[in-house]
Amino acid sequence: MRVLTGIQASGKLHIGNYFGAMKPMVALQKEHELFTFIANYHSLTTSKDASILKQYTIDAAIDYLSIGIDPDKTTFWIQSHVPQVLELYWILSKFTPIGLLERAHSYKDKVAKGISANHALFSYPVLMAADILMLDTEIVPVGKDQIQHIEMTRDIATKFNNEYGEIFILPEHKVAKEVATIPGIDGQKMSKSYSNAIDLFMDEKALQKRCNKIISSSTPLGEPLEWKDDTIYTLAALFLNDEQKLALQARYKSGKEGYGHFKKYLKELIWEELGEAREKRSYYLKHMDEVHDILQQGAKKAQSIAEKKIVQAKEAIGL
Ligand code: ADP
Ligand code: TRP
Repeated sequence: MRVLTGIQASGKLHIGNYFGAMKPMVALQKEHELFTFIANYHSLTTSKDASILKQYTIDAAIDYLSIGIDPDKTTFWIQSHVPQVLELYWILSKFTPIGLLERAHSYKDKVAKGISANHALFSYPVLMAADILMLDTEIVPVGKDQIQHIEMTRDIATKFNNEYGEIFILPEHKVAKEVATIPGIDGQKMSKSYSNAIDLFMDEKALQKRCNKIISSSTPLGEPLEWKDDTIYTLAALFLNDEQKLALQARYKSGKEGYGHFKKYLKELIWEELGEAREKRSYYLKHMDEVHDILQQGAKKAQSIAEKKIVQAKEAIGL
């Protein structure tokens, strides 16, 4: 199956992104032909600063490679390096009723949040349709908020196919198995917007400091601790198998250890889990030419597939 997904780069990644989005995506490359790109044309719709957009784009590429995107298995590129997508975007615009775009929740939400409405923001789903359709994508793994965009892609492709012949494959969305919302250091949903995140790549001292800031109840040392609903426990459990979870619960109940011990344990779990990713990351940071090479190879492969599809589409509509 051909699977495609786009990644919006919007700054430092955290443990919530890692378990909620990155790890499940990397797992897909074991079974499927995976195509993944950093959606910088999409990020442009809300970007205000050139150097920040550039930095976020390359940072996201490095982070995903470090977490385990394998360039031997997966085609990985930066969206704007395959400008063919814009040609298809224009062609698809002709098959996109205004009413369809006006119904987009994501657009309405962004405008409601005060982001000024421009044409790029409005037509964002058409570009997303072009990303998907130009590569004959069969499956698109997305978060719930993106399902409507995949449905719109199907609507646009159907309209094209009905009017000019069967050129495009209708993609299916696949919503990843619900990962429970991962809490931040204050117990609320971890998010970079709430300043409660534990970032993926910190040095060891900073990571321990961050873990020490996790809010827990004020049970005095020597008394049994409640592990249910404890943020340190909830975060630690992400890294543990059932047996290890039971062992940690027993430590909570014994009353012999305090939250300080569990914060140290959590730091160690995070530090260990990301050991390999950290090594890869420092390698890539020192070998940026290799990163650019991987992205260029990916762009080349995506371009050659897209090119063929666009020729077919143009032929079909008389361009
Ligand atoms: P943020 O809230 O930090 O801005 P994003 O909205 O950029 O994060 O999230 C990117 C993806 O990471 C989401 O689609 C979601 O799958 C995952 N994710 C983010 N925060 C969490 C969380 N606290 N728990 C689980 N998954 C999360
Ligand atoms: N809009 C998606 C998001 O915000 C990113 C994206 C762009 C995408 N193009 C895509 C996702 C194509 C899947 C397929 O997360």
